[in-house]
Amino acid sequence: MKLAAAFLGVVIASLLTIAMLFTAGWVRPPILSTQVGFRGLAMNQLTTPAARSKLELANALPEAVPPAEPGGPLAVDTYKNVKVLTDLTTVQFNTLMAAITTWVAPNEGCGYCHNTDNLADDGIYAKTVARRMIQMTRHVNKDWKAHVANTGVVCWTCHRGNPVPANVWTNGMGWPQAGGFATTNYGMGHPDAANGSTAMTQDPYTALNDKSVIRVQATKALPANSNGASIFATEQTYSLMIAMSQGLGVNCVFCHNSREFGQWPESTPQRLTAWHGIQMVRDLNGAYLDPLKTVLPASRLGPLGDAPKLNCATCHQGANKPLLGVSLAKDYPELGGTPAK
Ligand code: HEC
Ligand code: HEC
Ligand code: HEC
Ligand code: HEC
Repeated sequence: MKLAAAFLGVVIASLLTIAMLFTAGWVRPPILSTQVGFRGLAMNQLTTPAARSKLELANALPEAVPPAEPGGPLAVDTYKNVKVLTDLTTVQFNTLMAAITTWVAPNEGCGYCHNTDNLADDGIYAKTVARRMIQMTRHVNKDWKAHVANTGVVCWTCHRGNPVPANVWTNGMGWPQAGGFATTNYGMGHPDAANGSTAMTQDPYTALNDKSVIRVQATKALPANSNGASIFATEQTYSLMIAMSQGLGVNCVFCHNSREFGQWPESTPQRLTAWHGIQMVRDLNGAYLDPLKTVLPASRLGPLGDAPKLNCATCHQGANKPLLGVSLAKDYPELGGTPAK
């Protein structure tokens, strides 16, 4: 009897061990650890060789397009309907068209944006969107150096060969919404990937749309003087923080000393870059992406009628720097924002 009980114990223990090996949350060692904060604070980023090589694979670079030879007539003089790329020579213009096609519509080709019988025609909505995208990319490279530094972005940073980038969001995306007088729960209590499988709001990105304050900790003792946030705003902040961390493939201590999340002097320099990132995303969503709702076909819009927008993952795609820090923008001065010489 004793022997049978011991045997059963061993069997159960082995089964539990095997089950543990295959459940989520367990990762195969070795665990690679990189220190990001001051020493001794355990502010480390963790990964595994397998996760690392998967990330490298996902950040493969597109086929390079040979750089344009300098000189020659301006595209605006050669072609009929050039409204944005007025500073480019014809050769640069054609180089950029080839690159854009590789980055955004490699399978579809020029015809994704063009009426191939008349390239000057603006009939296809994708061409109108692409014009705005060119302006947005130049704006990022020129005016948002506080975030993108000299690394910059090109269409590939977000698109990676897809006409619509893989990571976009619209308002009210996750949660079912009753109409009329029914209140909405903003996706509370519906754990999913967007909120890190917690019961917090499934709409972590609303703060990337408006100017809401991403603060939860009161700075003064008395409630009347406090800037402490409501429970809802607090949950929204945490939900956004989880989404930001996932978008960059990092944990909270990449930016914060978790001893005191609100304290800037104890945070890493990356938190400041992230702060500029939040302002940049708000600017791009408000000035470039949302207004495209009047151009996009209804099938592209979200359930509440707004256009798809950016979050951190649109560029970062799980890496702390998009494309693991490789700068494609430096090879494409056509998108650099400064007039070509
Ligand atoms: C992702 C969308 C997109 C793709 C793909 C694309 N183009 Fe364009 N193309 C544009 C936009 C936007 C303009 C207008 C630029 C402007 O107004 O400054 C344009 C304009 C042009 C013009 C100028 C036409 C005129 O007379 O005004 C030519 C020529 C051209 N493209 C050639 C090509 C070729 C060749 C390809 C395929 C290799 C291609 N394009 C692929 C978006 C695209
Ligand atoms: C910062 C990220 C980002 C960059 C950089 C970017 N795009 Fe986009 N693009 C988006 C998002 C988000 C959408 C989806 C929203 C929309 O369609 O308005 C989109 C949509 C598009 C579409 C519409 C596709 C469709 O089928 O509806 C085209 C065309 C396009 N982009 C072209 C470009 C070109 C060309 C460039 C480079 C000059 C570029 N994009 C750079 C984020 C980006
Ligand atoms: C990529 C950098 C980054 C990561 C990663 C990050 N945060 Fe933040 N966090 C920020 C920034 C920037 C702010 C300030 C936003 C503002 O002031 O507008 C902030 C603000 C906060 C606040 C509000 C502090 C206050 O002043 O009240 C809390 C709480 C917080 N983060 C928690 C977290 C948690 C928890 C995680 C991990 C799940 C996390 N953060 C991951 C950058 C980051
Ligand atoms: C338009 C594309 C784009 C978007 C959107 C974007 N980033 Fe970035 N981000 C970049 C680029 C490019 C760099 C690399 C800059 C450099 O080389 O220093 C970067 C760098 C960073 C860094 C520094 C990483 C390091 O290792 O030092 C942080 C932190 C960061 N981004 C946070 C964010 C957060 C948080 C968001 C969303 C609120 C965001 N980013 C949205 C393009 C983007």
